[in-house]
Amino acid sequence: MCSPQSTFLLWMLGKSRDMPSFVDIQEVAVSYGEDTPHNRVLEGASLQMNQGEFVAIVGPSGCGKSTFMKLMSGLLRPNEGTVIVADREVDKPLGNVGMAFQNSIMLPWRTTLDNLLLPLEIVKQHRRQFRKKRKDYEAKAHQLLASVGLNDVAHKYPWELSGGMRQRASLCRALIHEPEVLMLDEPFGALDAFTREELWCVLRDLWEAQHFTVMLVTHDLTEAVFLADRVLVMSARPGKVVMNQAVPFARPRDLSIRYEKEFIDIVHVLRDQIKTVRAS
Ligand SMILES: Nc1ncnc2c1ncn2[C@@H]1O[C@H](COP(=O)(O)OP(=O)(O)OP(=O)(O)O)[C@@H](O)[C@H]1O
Ligand SMILES: [Mg+2]
Repeated sequence: MCSPQSTFLLWMLGKSRDMPSFVDIQEVAVSYGEDTPHNRVLEGASLQMNQGEFVAIVGPSGCGKSTFMKLMSGLLRPNEGTVIVADREVDKPLGNVGMAFQNSIMLPWRTTLDNLLLPLEIVKQHRRQFRKKRKDYEAKAHQLLASVGLNDVAHKYPWELSGGMRQRASLCRALIHEPEVLMLDEPFGALDAFTREELWCVLRDLWEAQHFTVMLVTHDLTEAVFLADRVLVMSARPGKVVMNQAVPFARPRDLSIRYEKEFIDIVHVLRDQIKTVRAS
C-alpha cells in the first residue's frame, strides 16, 4: 500500500509526465509560394520544448531552421500541421517572443537605450504599460545593459558601438519585454572567436538568472553543446528533426568544459549526424 505522501508524489510525477509541452510543433509542412513537393522547405517536422528549456537547432544550410523560427513566432503559417505555444495555436505574430539575429538591426538614429525600448513601443500588448511606466522600463533597460557589461552605452548611438557591443545590446532588446520565448538565429555568427565566447557566457548568465525558454539556431556545434539542454539536428531540405541529443552537463557550465572528453564526444556525434544528412 502506498502512503498518502507517496501517492501524492506519484500523482505529481504522473501529472508532470502528462503535462503538454510549452512549445508543441506537430508534423508541419511549409512551402514558400505554391505548395508543391518541390517547394517544400519543411515536411513532417515536429518539435517540442518545455518551459524554461534551452534548445539548440543545427543542420545544413537551407534545411529550414530559420523557417522553424518564423513558424514559432507566428510570422509564417504552416501548410500542414500545428504550432502550439503556451497552450494556444499560433495563428498570428506572437507578442511574447524576443528575437535576435546575426545582423540584428539597430536603428541608427536612436540611442542604444531607445533601441532597447523599441519592442515596448511597437508590440501592441506592451504599449499602454510602456506609456504609463516609461521610467521603470528605462531603469530596467539600464539594468539589463549593466548585466551584459554595457554600463556606459545607453546614450550612445549604435554606430558608436563595436559589433560585440551591438550584439549584447540586441540581446537586451530581445529581453526587455520579458518574453516567454527567446529566439536566437545565429546571433553570434558574425563575431570574432573571443567575443563570441564572451557572449556565450553573457547568454548563459542571463538564462541562469531568468530561465526563459530559448531556441537557438546555430552552425557552431560547440556553441550548441555549451549552451543548450538539448541539441536537435535537422535533415536536409525538406527539413525535419532527425536527432534529439541531450546535453547532460551540470550548470552553470564553464568554458573549460569544451575540452572534456564527454563534451567533445557529443560534438563528434552531432558532426557525424550532420555529415550523414548532408550526404543523403
Ligand atoms: N521568403 C522566402 N521565400 C522563398 N523561399 C524562401 C524564403 N525564405 C527561405 N526560403 C527558402 O527556404 C529554404 C529554407 O530557408 P531557411 O532560411 O529556413 O534555411 P536555414 O536552415 O535557416 O538556412 P541557413 O543555415 O543558411 O540560415 C531555403 O531553400 C530558402 O531559399
Ligand atoms: Mg537561417
